Amino acid sequence: MATKRQTPVLVLAFGLLICTAAADASKFVRPPSRPLVTTLHSKADSHPQQVHISAVGMDGMAISYVTEDKTVPSLVEYGRAPGKYSHSATGESTSYKFFFYSSGKIHYVRIGPLEPTTVYYYRCGGAGDEFSFKTPPAALPVEFVVIGDLGQTEWTAATLAQVNRSDYDMLLLPGDLPYADMHQPRWDSFGRFVEPYASRRAWMVTEGNHEIESLPVVGPRPFLAYDARWRMPYGESSSSSNLYYSFDVAGGSVHVLMLGSYAEFGPSSDQRRWLEADLAKVDRSRTPWLVVLLHAPWYNTNSAHQGEGEEMRKALEELLYRARVDIVFAGHVHAYERFKRIYDNAADPCGPLHVTIGDGGNREGLADNFQRQHKTAPLSEFREASFGHGRLRVVNGTHARWSWHRNDDSFSVLRDDVWVESLSRSSSCNPPRGPSPPSAAAAWSDEL
Ligand SMILES: *[C@@H]1O[C@H](CO)[C@@H](O)[C@H](O)[C@H]1NC(C)=O
Ligand SMILES: *[C@@H]1O[C@H](CO)[C@@H](O)[C@H](O)[C@H]1NC(C)=O
Ligand SMILES: [Fe+2]
Repeated sequence: MATKRQTPVLVLAFGLLICTAAADASKFVRPPSRPLVTTLHSKADSHPQQVHISAVGMDGMAISYVTEDKTVPSLVEYGRAPGKYSHSATGESTSYKFFFYSSGKIHYVRIGPLEPTTVYYYRCGGAGDEFSFKTPPAALPVEFVVIGDLGQTEWTAATLAQVNRSDYDMLLLPGDLPYADMHQPRWDSFGRFVEPYASRRAWMVTEGNHEIESLPVVGPRPFLAYDARWRMPYGESSSSSNLYYSFDVAGGSVHVLMLGSYAEFGPSSDQRRWLEADLAKVDRSRTPWLVVLLHAPWYNTNSAHQGEGEEMRKALEELLYRARVDIVFAGHVHAYERFKRIYDNAADPCGPLHVTIGDGGNREGLADNFQRQHKTAPLSEFREASFGHGRLRVVNGTHARWSWHRNDDSFSVLRDDVWVESLSRSSSCNPPRGPSPPSAAAAWSDEL
């Protein structure tokens, strides 16, 4: 169960953007939206750009980069000291056309095996700049940064700079990356914009609606740019689609499931079959933490995107509930909201914590209209329409700390901070099968 440390429900949301003369000077008043940042490439066509990395398996990393020059090899050289590349690996590449736009050569190279919690230095394409990253740990603790609906504005730049100010192991992104919206050069600009951060830590993403980029009849196929540029390790989790996959972190102590709000999820869908099989493989005695990310929230009291996640919730919520998923992170709504443990629209100590974190800083601005009368409003523990980022520090097999940091211009402010206990160790949420021993039966009724 989550225990709150801070003040009770803070309904700062209403009128947050309205700068009234009566506004208390100590109150945070969200400034207006900020312009888009365009990040150019001023080096040679052969110079690798848009470098980002993602974790593959327990000890591998996939390096992605783009070159305008199609003759540059898909090659990554790496080692544990700057300038000394003791290892190298080759990979593959792809490219795509989008109406009149032709992408550069998009390289994808897997490297490893790598040591955990270790800094590696690397360069791409046999030339170019040196980058470095730190591998995730092989055991708990582990710290995730969670940001959704990122975009590439000056707000995003401020959020990412704040994220980078304290260390973390891996970034999780529940969809809506560049807000390219069919304008393909924005994907390239975004790749360069995030490179200083996405080349240093594994970025694990799932898709949002802004990644679909398809029109009826004229096409092109949905997720063409997203799949080419942000390929995730879906095959490793037996998924047949880049739109949903899962992976283990910290030696299997945390299992993260990336679901696809924009992939089929009905009873006979591939995603559902895959999800059932994936959850069935999880042994909660070895994997105390189950974390899910998806784009369109299942619980949301904001008038923005109200009800959009409902169909998927009805289709898959029971599966996650039965598996005792600990936390579900969503994006899409450009605000922050955290619910009590919830299942089927009611408070439930065995349901996941639901968090909406769609406030990375995109160009569409904030969603500031929270509905006080919404049927789940009494279960919404914290909501605020501000940009910011979240951190999930999984301390051990029973405890994790979730915090949300508002992006208050040049500094970040801790606004929400709760301890989360893993459901895997809760006797009341995991009644033994068959006739229970008297003590367990007592605990079951006591705690409910
Ligand atoms: C991110 O933080 C690291 C470590 O403090 C620093 O070396 C690096 O320059 C920072 N990156 C950016 C883009 O500020
Ligand atoms: C796990 O971490 C929590 C919070 O720091 C602590 O209270 C608890 O004792 C730890 N449990 C174990 C088994 O170390
Ligand atoms: Fe969205």
